[in-house]
Amino acid sequence: MFYNWKNSINEIELNDVANSIKNGEIVVMPTETVYGVGADLFNEDAIKKIFIAKNRPATNPLIVHIGNKNEIDMVAQNPNEIEQALIDEFMPGPFTIILKKKDCIPDIVSAGLDTIGVRMPSNEIANRIITKVGNPIVLPSANISGRPSGTRVEDIFEELETKVYAIVDGGESQIGLESTVVKVVDGMPIILRPGKITPEDIIRVVGKCELDKNIFQKPAEVVDAQMPGSKLEHYVSKLECNLICGQNNDKIIDKIKEIIQQRNGKVAIIAFEDIIEKIDISKDRLFRISRTDNIEKDELEYAEKLYRYIREAENTDSDLILIQGVKEEGLGVAIMNRLLRTSSFRIINVD
Ligand code: TXA
Ligand code: MG
Repeated sequence: MFYNWKNSINEIELNDVANSIKNGEIVVMPTETVYGVGADLFNEDAIKKIFIAKNRPATNPLIVHIGNKNEIDMVAQNPNEIEQALIDEFMPGPFTIILKKKDCIPDIVSAGLDTIGVRMPSNEIANRIITKVGNPIVLPSANISGRPSGTRVEDIFEELETKVYAIVDGGESQIGLESTVVKVVDGMPIILRPGKITPEDIIRVVGKCELDKNIFQKPAEVVDAQMPGSKLEHYVSKLECNLICGQNNDKIIDKIKEIIQQRNGKVAIIAFEDIIEKIDISKDRLFRISRTDNIEKDELEYAEKLYRYIREAENTDSDLILIQGVKEEGLGVAIMNRLLRTSSFRIINVD
């Protein structure tokens, strides 16, 4: 089924989606971060369908998605004071907290860990579906494992159309990057996966926060993984990808021109518009991010468009995608965490 709820939620179709999930089907739906593919938390056969559809390793646990905060008590042990403060502040929203799990969680969900990730999406469509189902669902990102997450249905069709009961179209994802994943260890909130909610946001609420040491680590070099996903390849492009980093625009532009020549023009470029404007190749190979005097706003746009641009760049008959890096500050931490993986840690530094 394909349901278009871009303008409004169709109540008859909503009943069909919720009933199909209760009956063990899996469904693609929007959230404010990225699209997810959902199944009933308590239906192991349905959850197996997700692992098969995504080709997801059984070692990678799923995040439980709830419709209201009371459902935390269904799946996790009582949060401590710091965890509760984070829940109060950031739920609903692009935020996942790792808590001690309850015994009712099927092993297939938690991949054998004694913890469970919990998230409450703020997206109205996701919330209405979860609420109609009547209990939490699992909702990993809607993509084949290892690929960038799906942020619009056009991109998801190709990978998942034949494998799910329905796809619900809610338009393009607002945020474009997956939720910030936080685990409180010995009283310290640790960000395991950076996202729109930044370390600064967390410090504002509980006075402290650290980034997990594996955030900028190559998957093969990760030790003591707090997040099983950090040991797996993620967001990888089908094409060779290079990150291009530096403070000096002229040097970046010269480098890009040099590479375009070496590659006989078969290069796609994702960059801020003050770089894009100086590059003389066909427009369909150029993917621009606004550059204003408000870097925070520009980086929100970068996050929102990133996965879509990678997929579009892959379809441009190029041999190489060049992607401009950002400073690892604020939202830039999350953007660089994804870009390093997309480019398999190939970085050209022009400074
Ligand atoms: O924004 C999001 O979180 C999206 C949307 C659809 O809600 N979902 C999402 O789920 O990104 P997924 O399954 O693609 O990524 C979940 C990540 C994986 O890297 C997994 O290893 C980690 O969260 N994770 C899940 N449970 C965990 C746990 N108990 N401890 C540590 N990491 C966990
Ligand atoms: Mg994912």
